[in-house]
Amino acid sequence: MQSKELREKFIKFYESKGHAFLPSSSLVPKEDPTVLFTTAGMQPLIPYLLGQKHPKGKRLVNLQKCLRTGDIEEVGDNRHLTFFEMMGVWSLGDYFKIDSIRWTYDFLTSPDYLGLDPRRLFVTVYRGSDKAERDIEAVNTWKEVFGESGIEADSGVEFDWSNPDDSAKYLYRITQRSGKDNWWGLPYKGPCGPCSEVYYLLDSNNVDLEKNFEGKSLQEIEVFIENQVVEIWNNVFMQFEGVKDENDEPLEIIPMISKNIDTGVGYERLLTVLNNKKSPYETDLFTPILEVVDKYSR
Ligand code: SER
Repeated sequence: MQSKELREKFIKFYESKGHAFLPSSSLVPKEDPTVLFTTAGMQPLIPYLLGQKHPKGKRLVNLQKCLRTGDIEEVGDNRHLTFFEMMGVWSLGDYFKIDSIRWTYDFLTSPDYLGLDPRRLFVTVYRGSDKAERDIEAVNTWKEVFGESGIEADSGVEFDWSNPDDSAKYLYRITQRSGKDNWWGLPYKGPCGPCSEVYYLLDSNNVDLEKNFEGKSLQEIEVFIENQVVEIWNNVFMQFEGVKDENDEPLEIIPMISKNIDTGVGYERLLTVLNNKKSPYETDLFTPILEVVDKYSR
């Protein structure tokens, strides 16, 4: 799939669900003194997440230009870029978790849109802390949508997360994780909430994940999983305002006026997996540039 087609399909799908297209705002924020560059799709939308009325309505879709330095040490691997576009889907006090998860799944798996094999999708949800509850609604919604595709998705509610040797936690299609992975917020007081990420299994031969674990140690399983899956999608259920503690768990959170959805999807990364490429540099976003560099550097 060409980059242009992915962009068009994404916008078309969400327009069909009542979202208005919003052009990217500037990479250098005009009115936000807290950052030098726009680092996340949500940054230009913070006032609207906090309750201000958006001129284009309550449902928006966009591709926001971002420059992220927080994970700069990882740039140069097969998935992290400094500059990228973040595909965003926004509900500003309108629909919430169930529609957000259902539409994510439909867009990713529907043959009319991306047509990904649902058996290659794995999801994470927030497991809860003493400040915010376990996201059972997200677990149940994912179970339902996978179930509609004939996939029995276990949620791993039962096992003991405090036991680091419990390898069972890697065996679930829906895993429940701590704030480090599944609580999204800014480094300072702002809109935040539990999130649910979607991972894509790179090798279609490994869809029966458990079979790959037989005879392996927990450490080997972890390495295997890390190399096998790539995060492609993040739905943040932004319903609080607050900060994070030193473990990235919520702290001093208060409910916001309205419940919002902030969806962030790495455009270059999704394009990479859709084309079974090894890195974004092999997609049509980069290859024409690299060809020119190659030509003039010979
Ligand atoms: N705010 C979330 C992120 O930047 C989802 O858009 O990952």
